[in-house]
Amino acid sequence: MRNQDDIVMVSAVRTPFSKFDSAMKDIPSIDLAIIVMKEVIRRAGVKPEEVEEVNYGGCVLAEMALELDVPARQATLLAGFPPENISLTLDKACCSSMTALRLGVRGIRAGDLDIAMAVGSENMPRTPHLAPGIRWAKRLGHVKLIDPLFELGYHAKGFSALAKDAGEVALEFGVTREMQDEWAFRSQERYAQADREGKFTGELVSVVIPKKQGDPIVISKDESPRRTTLEALAKLKPVYGSPTVTPGNAPPLSAGAGAILFMTRKKAEEKGLKPLATIVAATCASTAPRYIASIPAITIRKALYAAGLTMDDMKLIEINEAFAAMPVVSTKILADAEENKWNALMDKTNVNGGAIAIGHPVGASAARITMTLAYELQRRGGGYGVAAICGGLAQGEAVILKV
Ligand SMILES: CC(C)(COP(=O)(O)OP(=O)(O)OC[C@H]1O[C@@H](n2cnc3c(N)ncnc32)[C@H](O)[C@@H]1OP(=O)(O)O)[C@@H](O)C(=O)NCCC(=O)NCCS
Repeated sequence: MRNQDDIVMVSAVRTPFSKFDSAMKDIPSIDLAIIVMKEVIRRAGVKPEEVEEVNYGGCVLAEMALELDVPARQATLLAGFPPENISLTLDKACCSSMTALRLGVRGIRAGDLDIAMAVGSENMPRTPHLAPGIRWAKRLGHVKLIDPLFELGYHAKGFSALAKDAGEVALEFGVTREMQDEWAFRSQERYAQADREGKFTGELVSVVIPKKQGDPIVISKDESPRRTTLEALAKLKPVYGSPTVTPGNAPPLSAGAGAILFMTRKKAEEKGLKPLATIVAATCASTAPRYIASIPAITIRKALYAAGLTMDDMKLIEINEAFAAMPVVSTKILADAEENKWNALMDKTNVNGGAIAIGHPVGASAARITMTLAYELQRRGGGYGVAAICGGLAQGEAVILKV
């Protein structure tokens, strides 16, 4: 018997994820969010006034600041949600849109609401340079510009660049540069195969960019995937002081948005909606900042414990490719470093490729891996799956789905 209190995903959609130098680079992240927020309820036939809470994640604050603040509030109003709608903007780095989902799940479990939406939106290529001190500028002297995208490091407060931590810790775990390049190659190959099979069409909504003259630009596919070879990957130089992370085994800087609509099973049945997946667990964890490559594994273990399940129950795994180091290190931890088990886990991880190929608009990626997992479990006839993501200074989120 299906529990009426179960929380089910009923609709999930994302924009294509852009390359760095894309026509999407001038679209505010708020506007990308509006596209997916409208589309996710349109597909489910749910009215804006029925959505009781919208949690909205994003973390490139300098880009959001171009529209001042409260992007969630601005986006809900502009997307046609009533002024009474409750919304929250949150930043938990790359975890943000899964945190948005977890908060909605909590609200439903607490009995505060029945229908919630999780949104993630980011436009990294639109991020402006910052010019601190200009307001109180000296009468004489150079102007210093800061690029918040450069290194995505937390140097200002004495922390390290993510790519440096991830690469160093990967080596500590015996995960070499070659293994990371092999993963990157596989990510591109798997994406290409999945794309040939039309696997992304269901989760995508196009971005239409009007032009002053002529037809609008229509972006309906991810822009970053590229075919490559292991030889070409091996030639790339590491970036940001990392021993292993290169432009080939790191994701590109992207724009994109995703939204997930979820509710109690009871509500879905009342509305005649067929669930995409049941949200079995939504869990967070954190560890020492340097160990960011291991946090997906730690969070997955915590989620499995909460759900009373084991890795063997998981048919599919999504681990966000913040860098190739994350899925490779985390699957090794989950396999207790047993070679056969590790290979088996890697086999069922990111079966349609990951952020290295697709792109990583940081606040939106967690929504993408969650919906990708649900759609792929559907195609494979159901089962359990887990999606996990790491975020700034070794925070993690994981969600277990059942189809
Ligand atoms: C890595 C990074 C600095 C690269 O930026 P970039 O220099 O603008 O990237 P490019 O696409 O121009 O790639 C650089 C070079 O590598 C090459 N390259 C990239 N991917 C390749 C691949 N898969 N195979 C072969 N060559 C590749 C490019 O062709 C380019 O070569 P060129 O310099 O001869 O033209 C940038 O994408 C980045 O910062 N990524 C990490 C983002 C991040 O940290 N995300 C958060 C994680 S939590």
